[in-house]
Amino acid sequence: EKGGYDYFMLKEIAEQPKAVADTLLGRIDLAGNLCLDEVRIPASVLREVSKVVIVACGTAYHAGMIAKYAIEHWTRIPCETELASEFRYRDPILDQRTLVIAISQSGETMDTLMALRHAREQGAKVLAICNTNGSTIPRESDAVLYTHAGPEVAVASTKAFLTQLVACYLVALYLGQVRGTKWGDEILSVIRELSEIATQVEEVLETMEPVRELARTLADKNTVLFLGRHVGYPVALEGALKLKELAYMHAEGFAAGELKHGPIALIEQDVPVVVVVPSPRGRSVLHDKIVSNIQEIRARGARTIVIAERGDETVAPYADHLIEIPATPTLLQPLVATVPLQVFACELATARGNEVDQPRNLAKSVTVE
Ligand code: M6R
Repeated sequence: EKGGYDYFMLKEIAEQPKAVADTLLGRIDLAGNLCLDEVRIPASVLREVSKVVIVACGTAYHAGMIAKYAIEHWTRIPCETELASEFRYRDPILDQRTLVIAISQSGETMDTLMALRHAREQGAKVLAICNTNGSTIPRESDAVLYTHAGPEVAVASTKAFLTQLVACYLVALYLGQVRGTKWGDEILSVIRELSEIATQVEEVLETMEPVRELARTLADKNTVLFLGRHVGYPVALEGALKLKELAYMHAEGFAAGELKHGPIALIEQDVPVVVVVPSPRGRSVLHDKIVSNIQEIRARGARTIVIAERGDETVAPYADHLIEIPATPTLLQPLVATVPLQVFACELATARGNEVDQPRNLAKSVTVE
């Protein structure tokens, strides 16, 4: 049942290109239009949406953080992403024109379910992004967009995360399409790149051996830090979460711009710091900022592990270890940048003798508080 892999997690990491392709299947037509009739919220209602609020937990929350960048950029609708466990206990300001998106692999996470009930009580429309057919969260939502990752058995979420991202991009682009906002060449080219993204995820998987080797050399470290900016920031958080849950190591993700506000004090000789570098094309300001962040931490002794676009020569001189990923538009980069972090955490956990599929103290779906 593990298909020849030692762990479900390895199998599920390997299934990501297919999971991504399956989640896109039938949802983009040949002309590059989104076909999401299955989301049975009428276009007239979607046109009136004045705010989007995304609620989720853990890895699904990181997908939601990335979605915020995409939704605001492509639709110009204000969007907030909040931990479901926080949202459910406060008095959020919602109304009939608020679209709440609840993201959950299992569809049974208690906090996410309670957050969506809280939202519906106030008249908001709820769209679920979910991987489990007929589970509670989609049943209680106004609409659902299923991810087609197939069953995810390992406690650590991998393929479900990538498909949640795909679903979020589809929703963002669809909102852009029905509202006609910023619907132009950029969106069409993003849709084209999204249709081809499975091949790029495949390419990343084929080049993971050096990442595994590197992970094994770090098995006796106490801490690993992760830095990113823009959509690379949630990717950094996701890399840190994977490492905590699988390797039981102290790991933290930071927005690189926050370094001087505290975290840089953690940098000492030989601390491994993973840095997610945005594409040098397009938003080059972001790229240049992170290159200076890498220089700053390296000057203080950090061992830099840099994830950057293939051919990005500006970062290479400051990378103690360079992990190259294929070129993608910035907003889509998390689909390829996260994969090495999953492999890294899985290999570190194995090197430390941990149970990869069933980490201590964790359950696959958290149906209690
Ligand atoms: O089933 P859900 O997507 O609602 O689960 C949410 C989190 O419990 C889950 O993503 C958790 O953080 C994973 N174990 C992370 O790998």
